[in-house]
Amino acid sequence: MIRQEQMQVVNQRQIATNIFELTLSGHLAHEMNQPGQFVHIRVSDQLEPLLRRPISISSINKEALEFTMIYRADGRGTILLSEKKQGDQVDVLGPLGNGFSIDKVQAGQKALLVGGGIGVPPLYELSKRLVDKGVQPIHVLGFQTKDVVFYEKQFTELGETFIVTADGSFGHAGFVTNVLETLEDDFSVYYSCGPTPMLAALEKMYPEKEGYLSLEQRMGCGIGACFACVCETTEKTDADYVKVCSDGPVFESGVIRV
Ligand code: FES
Repeated sequence: MIRQEQMQVVNQRQIATNIFELTLSGHLAHEMNQPGQFVHIRVSDQLEPLLRRPISISSINKEALEFTMIYRADGRGTILLSEKKQGDQVDVLGPLGNGFSIDKVQAGQKALLVGGGIGVPPLYELSKRLVDKGVQPIHVLGFQTKDVVFYEKQFTELGETFIVTADGSFGHAGFVTNVLETLEDDFSVYYSCGPTPMLAALEKMYPEKEGYLSLEQRMGCGIGACFACVCETTEKTDADYVKVCSDGPVFESGVIRV
């Protein structure tokens, strides 16, 4: 069920240049069921910035009624959010959207998880769920440069992890596809979140595989009412278009015209 709640800041820390990890507590965390869902955050009651900002959920702790998100502070709203301290309140609407399904991958199988930049965070909760199920995750995570790399250790604890930087300042140099070309394709399913060209490249590389793609899209309302996030579909579905916020943000590969 979607709720709106004033959640309390448990902890906030900077984990890379302009990248923050924020943990909030409140009953809303109890409603979070799927990895890959997101929340809509209103940062300030002031006239500006009044709009909510969509931020993906990076981990969920239902027992403690807490969840964590990782975001880039690059606009007025998110910079204000990054200034919140322990005990402060944040207006949260969520959980929103449909996340990643782990139904079709079984214990003992492998799953490939590919993230780009600020598309990496939702893969963390996904990877934890896969590991709990007995699935072996392989992570390929792309970043622009060393300064914005985060969670290498956390992902490595869950499974094999390749870090790629576009400028070659850390890990492998180039794009995630450069690493993917060197890997065996003995995984049963792939999951990805990041910029559209990366998602398109994955679909092209693995046309026969089961895949789930989480789209990064500009959003308005976040609840399916404003049409700001509409995307064109392929003939794989009957719908002429989908709304990323309420039909997605995760779609099966081949459904969205990327
Ligand atoms: Fe309003 Fe998706 S953001 S319909």
